[in-house]
Amino acid sequence: MKKVNLHSLFYIPIGFVIIVGCSLSYAGMVTAGTALSTMGGMLALSGLWLMANEVTEARHRCSQLHWAVERSERHCLEVLWKVIQYVEARERWWQGHSKRVGELAMRIAGKMGMSPEKCAEMDLAGRLHDIGLFAVPDSVINKYTNFGVDEFRSVKKHSQVSYEVLKPLDCLSEELLLAIRYHHERINGTGYPAGLAGENVPIEARILAVADSYDAMTHDRPHRKAMSPMQAMQELWRCTPAGYDAESVDALARSLKLMVPRASVSNSATAEQPTNQTSAV
Ligand SMILES: [Fe+2]
Repeated sequence: MKKVNLHSLFYIPIGFVIIVGCSLSYAGMVTAGTALSTMGGMLALSGLWLMANEVTEARHRCSQLHWAVERSERHCLEVLWKVIQYVEARERWWQGHSKRVGELAMRIAGKMGMSPEKCAEMDLAGRLHDIGLFAVPDSVINKYTNFGVDEFRSVKKHSQVSYEVLKPLDCLSEELLLAIRYHHERINGTGYPAGLAGENVPIEARILAVADSYDAMTHDRPHRKAMSPMQAMQELWRCTPAGYDAESVDALARSLKLMVPRASVSNSATAEQPTNQTSAV
């Protein structure tokens, strides 16, 4: 049932009383006119009081609703974080990867002068980026490299799956979702899932790609030992700008204080992601 707006009921008697009061005063009946005007003033004050009460009550309801929404969003993210931990627990080489990628992405964004809110968003993007790996079978994922055609097709689905799983969450921005969807795109268009190139790859996705690859390179994998931070940075520069965004790689280098003399890096214009150094995942 529609709720009656109480304060609107006061407009009619207030207007009526004031008009009558003024008319009586004009006609010489000052006492009666003053009495009616006073009554009109009191009614007006009562109306204002009711309005103020309604506003206060509405504000209280809004803050309660806002708090409930924030709490449910927080719970959602906690559930997702648990899912990621289970996904990472499938393979010991992965453990801690998502958290580290989030931290690196946040540092890169900070060095690029992005706002604290955007940096926090990049942290979240890093933590969530590989949640879609749950859809890749163990028999495929445990190989890490040398995938067959069908296996690689299965692996390549994970970024799109991550996007699809997270998309219904209103608390995640479109930029964050696209960063996750396109974190395996490469500047020269050789990445996946869409083969985007250049500035068509969103900046958030370019940042995430650098953070993801650096972390993969600096940690052991079944088929190779971890590279040193300096070696990983050299590898990133070698694959820039063909594979990675130069501004993001530079921001990572400054953030980690790993300034590689560019002359020492044999840069290849055709280099894409280092196939057996970074993870294809
Ligand atoms: Fe990935």
